[in-house]
Amino acid sequence: MDPVQEAVSKITVPLIQRRKLEGEKITCLTAYDFLTAKLVDAAGVDVILVGDSLGTVVLGYDSTLPVTLDEILHHLRAVRRGTRKALLVGDLPFGSYHVSEEQGVEAALRCVKEGGAEAVKLEGGQKRAPLIRRLVESEIPVMAHLGLTPQSIHIFGGHRVQGKTLDDASEILADAEAVEEAGAFAVVLEGVPRDLAASVTRRLRIPTIGIGAGPECDGQILVVQDLLGLTPEPRPKFVRAYANLAATARQAIENYRADVLCGRFPSDAESYHWPAEVRQQFDKADAPLPLRVKF
Ligand code: KIV
Repeated sequence: MDPVQEAVSKITVPLIQRRKLEGEKITCLTAYDFLTAKLVDAAGVDVILVGDSLGTVVLGYDSTLPVTLDEILHHLRAVRRGTRKALLVGDLPFGSYHVSEEQGVEAALRCVKEGGAEAVKLEGGQKRAPLIRRLVESEIPVMAHLGLTPQSIHIFGGHRVQGKTLDDASEILADAEAVEEAGAFAVVLEGVPRDLAASVTRRLRIPTIGIGAGPECDGQILVVQDLLGLTPEPRPKFVRAYANLAATARQAIENYRADVLCGRFPSDAESYHWPAEVRQQFDKADAPLPLRVKF
């Protein structure tokens, strides 16, 4: 691509922030591999997140808690190779920023230097403000994440909608103001009542990105496998599956199996052939090809 054109169309942190001022919605999706990143990027989605949902969606863990920084980095690198235009955000996994601010800065630096991330996401509000400040001072843009933060499931007692009482809602609002004040460029609001998300969105200058937080947020994010209908049902009520790729994929695999079993796959057209003269020599030969067996 022409470098001038590329610079014009590249999504950056300031551009994401401008979207809010201009009243334009921000589109975000997760991706964990090269091919999916290429699809999401080509579709014009603004932000690609290599989320720690990697753990449940790709690695088969029963929560996001076991995900390691090395696992995030491995998938970030793959997604980096498939992403040209979208802003690439790497999720700091559980345990990679909970010991000290230094640990969090080191983890975020690795996401940028080794994984090619242009920003990092971390969970938590007021208690994470000092770390957010340190990261921004270290030139690393931060997307905060509030509400139903999956790294806190043991504190919450499960995946429960947050901010349902006025006290809890005020706390989330205070968290949102704290992360904005600390320098976060955007904040994900997950699993909170629509009216709370709308109120936070009105009060903040930085964009809110909703997932299970209603339509008033400045942007939306989904897990790409949910959107494609690849994850098993029942899915959370905030998920809209725009395709049913699980059914399509299963049907394709069953068709392949049936074709192999009855000899319909591969066909002659799907096979390689000798040149005509080699074929003739082979047909004329009395003996089959000499077998060269090596052990
Ligand atoms: O890990 C993730 O995918 C996320 C988004 C769903 C916000 O945190």
